[in-house]
Amino acid sequence: MKTIAVLTSGGDAPGMNAAIRAVVRAGLDKGLKVMGIHRGYSGLINGEIFEMDRHSVSDIIHRGGTILKTARCPEFKKLEVRQKAAQILKVYGIDGLVVIGGDGSFTGAKLLSELGVKTIGIPGTIDNDLAYTEYTLGFDTALNTVLDAINKLRDTSTSHERISIVEVMGRNCGDIALFSGLAGGAESVIVPEKDYSLDEVCKTILDGKQKGKLHNLIIVAEGVGGANELALKIEDITGIETRATILGHIQRGGSPSAFDRILASRMGARAVELLMEEKTGRVIGIKGGDIIDLDTNEALAIPRKFDEKLYEIAKSLSY
Ligand code: ADP
Ligand code: F6P
Repeated sequence: MKTIAVLTSGGDAPGMNAAIRAVVRAGLDKGLKVMGIHRGYSGLINGEIFEMDRHSVSDIIHRGGTILKTARCPEFKKLEVRQKAAQILKVYGIDGLVVIGGDGSFTGAKLLSELGVKTIGIPGTIDNDLAYTEYTLGFDTALNTVLDAINKLRDTSTSHERISIVEVMGRNCGDIALFSGLAGGAESVIVPEKDYSLDEVCKTILDGKQKGKLHNLIIVAEGVGGANELALKIEDITGIETRATILGHIQRGGSPSAFDRILASRMGARAVELLMEEKTGRVIGIKGGDIIDLDTNEALAIPRKFDEKLYEIAKSLSY
C-alpha cells in the first residue's frame, strides 16, 4: 500500500471532517501518500482528485459538513461507470480507498472492491440506521441539535399551554426520534418501527393536562411523517392548541460533539491500519466500546433491531 484516497458520499454528517482528518494524518504518519476526492463517486469518475497534506486538514475537526463535499451519483450503480472509476484510481496510483457514508455508499465501495480497489467504509450518517454498528458518525451531534430545539420548543409550548409536535429525520429508522424523545422528556414518541394509536396519544395528553402538565411534546420520526396533519387531528380530538415543527436539514449541520469527533478519529485511524494490512471490502463500526470491522455484505445483511427496551423506558417515564 503506497497511496490511499478518501471521499465522502451520500448525506453529509457532523464528524465527517474529523474522520477525513484522521484518515489523512494517520496515512501520512504511516508514510503513505494521501489523496482527497471531491464530491463522492461523482467526483471520482470526473477525476476530481488532489493530494492532501497535514495542513489540508488543519482547523476542520470542529466543523460540520464535509470539506470534500458530498454528492449522490446514481450512475455508480452501472458496472461500466465503476470500471471507469477503478481505471481512474489506477491512473492516480491509488491502491486503497476510504469511503465515508451510509449503506448506499458502502454498497458502491464493495462493488468497487470487486474490481481490484481496496476499500474500507466508515459509517457517516445522522440516521444511525446501520445494524452492525451501535453508532454512526453524526448521530450523537444530530441528537444534541434536536435536544436543543426541543428545549426551546418546550419554553414556548409551556407559555402557551400548547401541544408541540416535532418531526425529526432518520429515514426509516426511528433512533433520532427515540433517543431525543427519551432525552427530551417527550410525552410520546412515534417511530416507524412501532404501531401507534392516535387515541392513546391523545389520552396521554389529556391525562397529563388533568395532572397539571404544562405542555405536551410529541416526537415523530420522518419515517412516519405527517406532523402537520397529525397536529390538526390532535388539536381536533383534544381541543388543545397544537403546533408542528419539522426540524429538517438543521439536524445535519453544526459542530460535531466530542463523542462524534473521538469516534471519527478512532475509525479513521483504524481504516488506515486495515488498508496497511491489505484488507478490503470491509466496513468499520463500534460495538461495546470497541472498534470493529466486518465484511461489507455481512454487515449490511444484519437486520436492524429496534431498541424495544429503550422504547419501553421512554414510555414508562413519559407521564
Ligand atoms: P448513503 O450512503 O447515505 O446511504 P445513498 O443511498 O444516497 O446514501 O448512496 C450514496 C451513493 O452511493 C449513491 O449516490 C451511489 O453513488 C452509491 N450507491 C448507492 N447504492 C449503490 C449500488 N447499489 N451500487 C453502486 N453504488 C451505489
Ligand atoms: O440520510 C440522512 C438524511 O438526512 C435523512 O435523515 C433524510 O431522510 C435525508 O438524508 C434527506 O436527504 P436530502 O439531503 O437529499 O434531502
